Amino acid sequence: MKTICVTGAVGTGKTEVSKKLARHLKFDYLDVTKLIKKEKISCGYDKENKCDIIDTKELNKILIKKIKESEGLIIDSHMSHYLPKRVVDLCIVTKCDIEVLNKRLKKRRYLKAKIKSNLEAEIFDVCLLEVKKKKHNVLVIDTSKGIKIREIINYIKNA
Ligand SMILES: Nc1ncnc2c1ncn2[C@@H]1O[C@H](COP(=O)(O)OP(=O)(O)O)[C@@H](O)[C@H]1O
Ligand SMILES: [Mg+2]
Repeated sequence: MKTICVTGAVGTGKTEVSKKLARHLKFDYLDVTKLIKKEKISCGYDKENKCDIIDTKELNKILIKKIKESEGLIIDSHMSHYLPKRVVDLCIVTKCDIEVLNKRLKKRRYLKAKIKSNLEAEIFDVCLLEVKKKKHNVLVIDTSKGIKIREIINYIKNA
């Protein structure tokens, strides 16, 4: 197991899980949000949703280069699962109870509309459906009541 992508709706715990995993497995941690800013891979601005539009083909090219350079990599992003299955060993999908997620998003002071669309993405399991469509090896983790890092590590080591 060398490359793990961590995806899921906003606020479901991707960054928490990714950083913990990287620390325990001694893998490199890749923050895709930072990478996008650094490499300037946005191809426009979505005014309605107030976010950059990302060229996923371009992003994948850069991610595949990072994968090749690393001995072990955790990719933290809700776009990481657009990578082809052949370069990803495991795709972790973080999930969260809707009430808990609502509280987490409110804490982030997002606008109401942004909270609503992110909650909907979680309710409709958008990420998980896309991950399954890509045929990734998938592990679903519910972070509502905390992250059981030992269980995840055991799963990875026995996979
Ligand atoms: N297992 C958890 N228990 C409690 N709070 C959590 C847990 N996982 C994440 N959080 C909190 O929820 C918020 C969102 O988590 P984060 O990892 O940043 O999500 P994402 O990267 O998916 O947007 C953060 O404030 C984080 O501290
Ligand atoms: Mg995050």
